[in-house]
Amino acid sequence: MYNIFMEKLNKLNASIAILNQKLNNIHFNYNGKEFRTIHKLTEKLYKECLKIYDDLSEKISMRNMIVPASFSEYLKLSLLKEEKGRRFTHEEVVKIITFDLTTLIDFTKKIEVHAVVQPLLDEIFLVLDKYRWLFNSLIKND
Ligand SMILES: [Fe+2]
Repeated sequence: MYNIFMEKLNKLNASIAILNQKLNNIHFNYNGKEFRTIHKLTEKLYKECLKIYDDLSEKISMRNMIVPASFSEYLKLSLLKEEKGRRFTHEEVVKIITFDLTTLIDFTKKIEVHAVVQPLLDEIFLVLDKYRWLFNSLIKND
């Protein structure tokens, strides 16, 4: 049971690493009309991802487990698919990011309650949910 729990943390961690890379991709390669907003928002979220990645990796390492750390390992474990470097429309950016955030939010909510990491999972949930709201607001009309 405990190992399944740790596997889920590894899966979440690998997914966050892929999301971080995807956000970097959009941060550099999106050059459309919402450039300033998307450039800033992707940077804020990838910084949050790096913090989450650090916190989760420490939790995994504390349990004397090896933290998967290469891109090939991330891709085997990740719930999210990677994205090649290319141009994006701002609608695509919102669609890609909100889809990934929803996938991670749903997965995080289903991880069994465990006192050791529950506060961290709650924090991750709040961050992902907030950024889904922020990215979604880019395609809303008044
Ligand atoms: Fe930058």
